[in-house]
Amino acid sequence: MSVKSQFGSKIGLIAATVGSAIGLGNVWRFPAETQANGGAAFLLLYIICVFILGVPVMLAEFSLGRSGRSDAVGVFRRLSPGKAWWLVGAFAILASYLILSYYMVVAGWTAEYLWQSITGNLYDTGAIIEKSGDIAAADAIFAKRMDQYICSDISPLVFTYIVIAINIFVLLGGVQKGIERLSNVMMPLLFVLLLALCAVTLSLPGAADGLKFFLAPDFSKIDASTVINALGQTFFSLSLGMGILITYASYYPADTRLTRTSVIVSLMSLLVAVMMGFIIFPAVTTFGLDRQPLEGATLVFVTLPEVFARMPASDVWSVIFFLLLFVAALTSTVSIAEVSIAFMQDRFHMSRVRACLVVMMPLFVLSAVCSLSFGSLSDIKIMGMTIFDSLDVFTTNVLLPLVSMGVCVYVGWFAPGTLLRSELTNNGSLRSRVTTAVLFIIRYAAPLLIAAIMVSKFI
Ligand code: PHE
Repeated sequence: MSVKSQFGSKIGLIAATVGSAIGLGNVWRFPAETQANGGAAFLLLYIICVFILGVPVMLAEFSLGRSGRSDAVGVFRRLSPGKAWWLVGAFAILASYLILSYYMVVAGWTAEYLWQSITGNLYDTGAIIEKSGDIAAADAIFAKRMDQYICSDISPLVFTYIVIAINIFVLLGGVQKGIERLSNVMMPLLFVLLLALCAVTLSLPGAADGLKFFLAPDFSKIDASTVINALGQTFFSLSLGMGILITYASYYPADTRLTRTSVIVSLMSLLVAVMMGFIIFPAVTTFGLDRQPLEGATLVFVTLPEVFARMPASDVWSVIFFLLLFVAALTSTVSIAEVSIAFMQDRFHMSRVRACLVVMMPLFVLSAVCSLSFGSLSDIKIMGMTIFDSLDVFTTNVLLPLVSMGVCVYVGWFAPGTLLRSELTNNGSLRSRVTTAVLFIIRYAAPLLIAAIMVSKFI
């Protein structure tokens, strides 16, 4: 068997893991959830969930990956041979592959909007009307654009294929020369882009009001459903339950400090979410767009282009924003594809090239189906939802909580001896003051809360 790959540097492994965590979850899911759930009160809950629940569950995945030194199925087979625990890993691989097939399409949209911003097409006829302040007219123009760029058959498909091809190129490079190198360039770029956008939106006239909504908590808004939403956002945005962190941690060197890494990754992910809040809330408040719900895709592809259209140098801000979105999506697609690639390599002893092709080629069909489910295939409904939506709902509401639950129960109760303790202390060479608390959360709090999320989704 080939020697297990490893990340080459501490910075590189952090950049790669942060790159996975920072995705569309931070950029568009977080602002939408924040607006729908009462602004700052939701932010506060989310921060609590990230540290009380997200970090411990992340540590459980890290510990599994680094001690098992294999893919998401392989770690369970190695640590508990002959037991059925590998099924948890199998569900993780299934979830990750399904998510991959539709996330590629979304990544394709970001590439398309980036391209249309670069060529100036996004703002051509619209610009005059939006600057005159007619919100309804601008809404209609950009909604029509979104239709044209997302709900048609050919162009979104072309961009999805381009993104799949870029993914293949990166993934063929392997862990160090592909994933790590990409992340080392993309993550600093992402922060530069974020800072540039923050600087502009924070100097808009409505910035103070926007920030007030985002940062002054109204605790009367917190109820059971807010808590459930904050929990769901935590799992999704930290890439938990997808097998990604297990797979990446299997590439961590033995001296990586897992606790420190998990805190850095969570803080960075949180920072990006908060910066997105600084960008979006001042912008929509300034231009009077805060009265409509900032619904995920519409927020990104209709509301924000409207904002940019009203600012001088629309194209520049638009290019910066969609480049940011594209970078965030790319490092996430790469990480989630790696789950299946690692599985193929470890389980079937495939070469890197072969594993990449076996995993990525079917996407040219699967992602096409997802993309077309906004166009020609939009009449096909599964339980009342399009193919795209049903995949999204099935994975986020069923598979991800199931996998996270499996990981917590396994690491908390059934993993061999002192797995968590020895991983958090690097086999006793570090002191860890948090092991007992982390173990408590993984054993009791996390499974209970995950069960609550699942139950609530079914009611
Ligand atoms: N944390 C990622 C995000 O916010 C979750 C994700 C990772 C989704 C990889 C898809 C692929 O987008």
